[in-house]
Amino acid sequence: MDIYAHRGSSGTHPENTIAAFIEATRLPIHGVEFDVHLTKDGELVVIHDETIDRTSSGTGFVKDMTLAELQSFDFGSWFSSEFKGQKIPTLHEVLQVFADTTHHLNIELKSDIFPYDGMVKKVIALISEMDLDSRVVLSSFDHGAIRTAKQLAPHIEAAALVMEVLVEPLDYIHAIPADALHLFFPAALRPSIRQVLEVGTTVRTFTVNEEQYAQALLDVGVAAIFTDFPEKMLTYLNKNS
Ligand code: G3P
Ligand code: MG
Repeated sequence: MDIYAHRGSSGTHPENTIAAFIEATRLPIHGVEFDVHLTKDGELVVIHDETIDRTSSGTGFVKDMTLAELQSFDFGSWFSSEFKGQKIPTLHEVLQVFADTTHHLNIELKSDIFPYDGMVKKVIALISEMDLDSRVVLSSFDHGAIRTAKQLAPHIEAAALVMEVLVEPLDYIHAIPADALHLFFPAALRPSIRQVLEVGTTVRTFTVNEEQYAQALLDVGVAAIFTDFPEKMLTYLNKNS
């Protein structure tokens, strides 16, 4: 079972910062996950929330600020004074961190609250420009964005993010269409997911920080977990799988 560092190595470093991504490059894990929003001036930035309130020294919506305005805030001190001075990274800066590694990159398109018109196209253009198509999986809770992604770039893997317990998950995945299912942890253990696993469709699960839950997912055949503690999970899975 593969490990993805969730928002970078976010259990030990401030989430979605270059520091968290550099830490992930140090680990022999399969991949890294991070979240993308669009600024007021159309730049792609890596941050989880729609606002910068929780993870920076500032306040306000990402969509209402230019990149230059966003870059004036500190995105490290909220986590620890050791990380003071971390800035909000652009998608380009994050992809550059992984340019010479073999990590797979799960880019989560955060257009489920604000639609961020044109974001999918911009993300795909950047991935292609940096020649990363084969190392990327796009995902979103906005399944319309996944449909758009598959229309624009059918060769790039795309996954539907789901919190709910689905009744006919295979029919749903095919209707989008998506290549994979990224499921909230408790839903991944429900019987209806067996049909997805049995036909060989990739299921990855978030967010798994407890070793016993990782073991349960390994036992049912989940392909990967997203975890805030990739180093701890790596040690556990190396011993137990
Ligand atoms: O992509 C997996 C996971 O990151 C989805 O939830 O809220 O942590 O972005 P969230
Ligand atoms: Mg995410």
